[in-house]
Amino acid sequence: MFSRFKKPEGAPGRPAATAPVTQATPSARPAAGAAAPKAMTGGRAAAGATVRPAAEMAAQDKEKKRKDRMQELKTELHKRLLDNLNLAALEKATEASLKSEIAAIAAEALDEMSVALNKDDRSTLNQELYDEVMGLGPLEPLLKDESVNDILVNGPNRIFVERSGKLELTDITFKDERHLLRIIDKIVSAVGRRVDESNPYCDARLADGSRFNCMVPPVAVDGSLVSIRKFKKEKLGVPDLVRFGAFTEEIALYLQAAVSTRLNIIVSGGTGSGKTTTLNALSSFIDNRERVLTIEDTAELQLQQVHVGRMESRPPNVEGKGAVTQRDCLRNALRMRPDRIIVGETRGEEVIDMLQAMNTGHDGSMTTIHANSARDGISRLENMVAMAGIEMPLKAVRSQIASAVNLIVQASRLQDGSRRMVSVTEITGMEGEVISMQEIFRYERLGVEPNGKIIGRFNATGVRSHYSDRFKQWGYDLPASIYEPLI
Ligand SMILES: Nc1ncnc2c1ncn2[C@@H]1O[C@H](COP(=O)(O)OP(=O)(O)OP(=O)(O)O)[C@@H](O)[C@H]1O
Ligand SMILES: [Mg+2]
Repeated sequence: MFSRFKKPEGAPGRPAATAPVTQATPSARPAAGAAAPKAMTGGRAAAGATVRPAAEMAAQDKEKKRKDRMQELKTELHKRLLDNLNLAALEKATEASLKSEIAAIAAEALDEMSVALNKDDRSTLNQELYDEVMGLGPLEPLLKDESVNDILVNGPNRIFVERSGKLELTDITFKDERHLLRIIDKIVSAVGRRVDESNPYCDARLADGSRFNCMVPPVAVDGSLVSIRKFKKEKLGVPDLVRFGAFTEEIALYLQAAVSTRLNIIVSGGTGSGKTTTLNALSSFIDNRERVLTIEDTAELQLQQVHVGRMESRPPNVEGKGAVTQRDCLRNALRMRPDRIIVGETRGEEVIDMLQAMNTGHDGSMTTIHANSARDGISRLENMVAMAGIEMPLKAVRSQIASAVNLIVQASRLQDGSRRMVSVTEITGMEGEVISMQEIFRYERLGVEPNGKIIGRFNATGVRSHYSDRFKQWGYDLPASIYEPLI
């Protein structure tokens, strides 16, 4: 009946290289009352000290037994699936046909084992088996959950997610470290990489575009570490960011003028502060007639323009050959007649070429940088130039930076999880040995609500833009009122 994906009769068993079935068990919720997750979610930890009513304890024991049983069933069924499914035919199978195939094999096996499951348990089991065979096992529901931004795995029993800027511990776990390693292996081997003791970490991109990084033992001490930045098909645009309070309409007007008049812009910020999102949103102000080239380590930007060339750097292969760095891409990009160059994140030697590009006719270029303030961002650039082995007096480096960079916007993730553009700072030139800057807009914190939400407002500093005349000449005559501070 299921001949299309079922192994033909007499077909050889699974090749020895296939993952051992004992480790291949889909997710299991930790037993109710398990210490770790509850302790992390706070609140309930103290409840352990009080005497629980007998009925509640009995119900929890029953639930624990049920979950343990489901876990055992999944291990067994997964083993049978790997034995029975024709793995070679899986790639061509449609999701619906494969799901019904899995359901049928599982039903047959459950019958054989004389196990009766209710409808809900059966459909959860089938979905988890499907995720295990085709997807990334326990991670699959988190990858599908639109509200999750980041998935962070600290060993097999601790999976955190980030929602609305806040980290939460989930009740999802891997069966054990081997199960986690098998999923990691599935991801990295799909991109032709390998992780093991001698090569314990790796960057990759998941099939859906999500950014993936892993580090495995023994370098990862308590079990493999995985970080996934989910890829959002619908990137947040400027109107979304204004709606979410990342910046105001007035700041958006200013930024539109800055991008359209081809200022060189750096988006600075800490990890996960919204740098790439801001860069992507800013790029929407680029004119459709311009040729834009993007360079990234992991392609995340999604520009809306017609004329976009995307490049992604490449790490060396297992023999240590074939690396293509961001710097290589950038140098090549300069020969590709770009109107603008966008580098996803400047973090190393490519800084030299980026500054040169900004200084030599590729104005309107943009990048992000990992720093905590505009001033800090400048120091980071100086350090990167020094680390790249360029022997140049500091003053010369600074004047190169001062004439290359026009604007630094600072993104920040505040304690309450909100992401805001906390400062918009222009670079105005050099004063002696120091780069001079002026802040135009800033986010002012006014207090904290009892629930931890930060109260604040965006305000102008009262300083008129250094580029006002340029804006005007290009047809962006911003009203003077946007530079006036609120009292
Ligand atoms: N203003 C915002 N409001 C709500 N969510 C946001 C906002 N800005 C960014 N995000 C979300 O936060 C997550 C992190 O954003 P982003 O990738 O832009 O950060 P990043 O600073 O580039 O991170 P990294 O340092 O890891 O490169 C994304 O899922 C994004 O959709
Ligand atoms: Mg980023």
